[in-house]
Amino acid sequence: MTQAPKVVRTVAALREEIGGWRSAGHTSALVPTMGALHEGHLSLVDIATARATRVVVSIFVNPRQFGPREDLATYPRDEAGDLAKLADRGAHLVFAPDVGEMYPPGFSTEVTVHGLSEGLCGASRPGFFTGVATVVAKLLIQTLTDIAVFGEKDYQQLLVIRRLARDLDIPVEIVGGPVVREPDGLAMSSRNAYLSEAERAVASRLYATLTAVADAVRAGSAVDRALADGRRMLDEAGFRVDYLELRHAETLEPLAAFAPPARLLAAAWLGRTRLIDNITV
Ligand code: PAJ
Repeated sequence: MTQAPKVVRTVAALREEIGGWRSAGHTSALVPTMGALHEGHLSLVDIATARATRVVVSIFVNPRQFGPREDLATYPRDEAGDLAKLADRGAHLVFAPDVGEMYPPGFSTEVTVHGLSEGLCGASRPGFFTGVATVVAKLLIQTLTDIAVFGEKDYQQLLVIRRLARDLDIPVEIVGGPVVREPDGLAMSSRNAYLSEAERAVASRLYATLTAVADAVRAGSAVDRALADGRRMLDEAGFRVDYLELRHAETLEPLAAFAPPARLLAAAWLGRTRLIDNITV
């Protein structure tokens, strides 16, 4: 285990640290997270340390991206465990503000990325992407690192963030990292901790279904037909399907017929846990 990263909790202290890096000639990378870190998050830290000489990880459970009936109160939190994992992976700094530091009294600005935020997760989680875009815009502006790394696990989120950085002229390069999976294919997620043993056994069917649908589409099946088959596979496995869709990989426009670059995206409930996943087709 290497040295524990320094923890700062205010924007002023964060800027002082990063200013020091800049004066010393370092390149820098930001990895935004909501904590409860797993190998998916840590793979982004690895990308960050490979691409920059200083890495800051933010840990902030952002209340603005949780709906009123969502899991803000029960979202897993483990700062001590997170710091130990980040020490292991060589992160240099952790920014862990409290809610008042990010949203002081009188806070009134929101960032909404139209278009990309509207379907898929945006349809079933109203306000979610505005919450994400607002906090990520703040984090990017607070740190102004050379790059910021996000996972393809949240593919629509990654595209929304790329768009907002471009639209707001935030001079930070947005870098995407591949989805990290459990040995049975389940995409790693902090929310997997909510799954019962029986649900966990079923959960890997989500990725298996995506793979089957992608194979069918690549082999020339009609897209509608392949998607309907996929939805039925998920229903039969015990999921309640939120969406299973084939979209253009950059614009997220629906694709009636297969043409690369395409992305297959799904969200489905297992009991009270909502799982999302996506693959390239
Ligand atoms: P969180 O869910 O903690 O995820 C933080 C980052 O880790 C995101 O970029 C997410 O895509 C990535 N990630 C999660 N699981 C992954 C996996 N299995 N493989 C690869 N990357 C994975 O996403 C958020 O937090 C928040 O919305 C945030 C961007 C921090 C804004 O609050």
